[in-house]
Amino acid sequence: MKINLKFKKEFLILLLSVFLTSCLTNVEEALIEENPNVDPCETITYTLNVKPIIDNNCIVCHGNGGNFPNLTTYNGTSANANSVKAEVVSRRMPQGNSLTNDEIQAISCWVDAGALNN
Ligand code: HEC
Repeated sequence: MKINLKFKKEFLILLLSVFLTSCLTNVEEALIEENPNVDPCETITYTLNVKPIIDNNCIVCHGNGGNFPNLTTYNGTSANANSVKAEVVSRRMPQGNSLTNDEIQAISCWVDAGALNN
């Protein structure tokens, strides 16, 4: 009987600590997922994000002498920013290929922020 009681107590402590640990983990996950300060658009720039996506996915058809609009430069891209956003969000472009959700979001963010030369 005495041994049994001691075992029960230890088992309860173990259960309690497992329970507490899982609570802590959930709180951390919730903080990361619901942190309103993390804005995916905040760090997006033309130079670091948008231009590489366009160079890799669009220039083959929208380069010099290619289809309108010419997307080789900032001026060409920003002058057609709304149309570029509409084409990638609807996934009509790039023709014969596809962008990742993150790439589409980066272009959307950049256009919504005013298509700046940043
Ligand atoms: C395989 C060739 C090809 C690729 C790659 C391609 N495009 Fe196009 N794009 C075209 C052609 C052809 C047209 C004109 C005919 C049409 O609208 O389908 C066009 C038209 C457009 C237009 C004008 C639509 C309108 O309103 O007239 C935009 C903006 C555009 N593309 C953006 C992009 C962007 C941004 C990418 C890269 C993410 C891209 N395209 C990749 C072939 C391509």
